[in-house]
Amino acid sequence: MKTKKVVIIGAGFVGSTTAYTLMLRNRVNELVLIDANHAKAAGDALDINHGMPYIGGAKLWAGSYEDCAGADIIIITAGAAQRPGETRTDLLKRNADIFDSIIKQIMPYNQEAILLIATNPVDIMAYITLKKSGWPVNRVIGSGTLLDSGRFRYLLGNELKIDPRSVHAHIIGEHGDSELAVWSLANVAGVDIELDEEIKQRIFLQTRDAAYEIIEAKGATYYAIALALDRIVTAILNDEGAVLNVSTLLDNYCGVSDVYLGVPCIVDRSGVRQTLELTLTDEEQALFEKSADKLKELIASLEL
Ligand code: 2OP
Repeated sequence: MKTKKVVIIGAGFVGSTTAYTLMLRNRVNELVLIDANHAKAAGDALDINHGMPYIGGAKLWAGSYEDCAGADIIIITAGAAQRPGETRTDLLKRNADIFDSIIKQIMPYNQEAILLIATNPVDIMAYITLKKSGWPVNRVIGSGTLLDSGRFRYLLGNELKIDPRSVHAHIIGEHGDSELAVWSLANVAGVDIELDEEIKQRIFLQTRDAAYEIIEAKGATYYAIALALDRIVTAILNDEGAVLNVSTLLDNYCGVSDVYLGVPCIVDRSGVRQTLELTLTDEEQALFEKSADKLKELIASLEL
């Protein structure tokens, strides 16, 4: 059996929780945590390793960029995180600078992996990674609106009293304030979801603003994003062809090009194999274009 190796760069809340999740769910044979603060990564590795007698299986260690060699997936979670009151795009300048150095340090050791970006603003950080790495589009993926779609499906499931796994509904666009719900295609077993406008609006706002609520309450979000990253990793390592709302470079998707946004993508061992174009209503289309325009404007403000 081929070794499944994942590297996580950034051992903050999201990176360490993702490491814990991947270990618990037995997804990999080798897992490396890299952080500018090596002591933090080493502490996390020790802490998780002490639980090994109760799960077993994989090797986990705190490493350096050399350990990117042979990795199937390199997850980047490093960077400044949102503080209460900040938006994801407020982080852009700080995190763009950090990425410059991270990507330069990965490149000498690996040219074959899939780069999975979770750092915010995630769509723009994935775009920056694509440009700076020069890797093919299919191998540079942002976590996109997979987390938001999970929140949306959870809230809809609660409202309908249906298991969220049986609720099919998409949040697309920016992972952030300009995202949109594709209500016109939301369904359970192919049956349209019919709810009062007021309830729909409440569910959408709770979805969109969930991170603000959690950050206000406890300073950061990490459990659900770790599970979303675990879902993407699994789809890749097991060559699933799963349909996930990750962020990819759009090429005439609903008329939008040259920007990373969350849309339904087929994810397999090659990374993003293909996007699936949704048939949007005029209103949804206008919101999607607005989301794209917002991110394009921010990208234009960067020197790439
Ligand atoms: C989240 O949505 C903050 O992007 C992070 O939980």
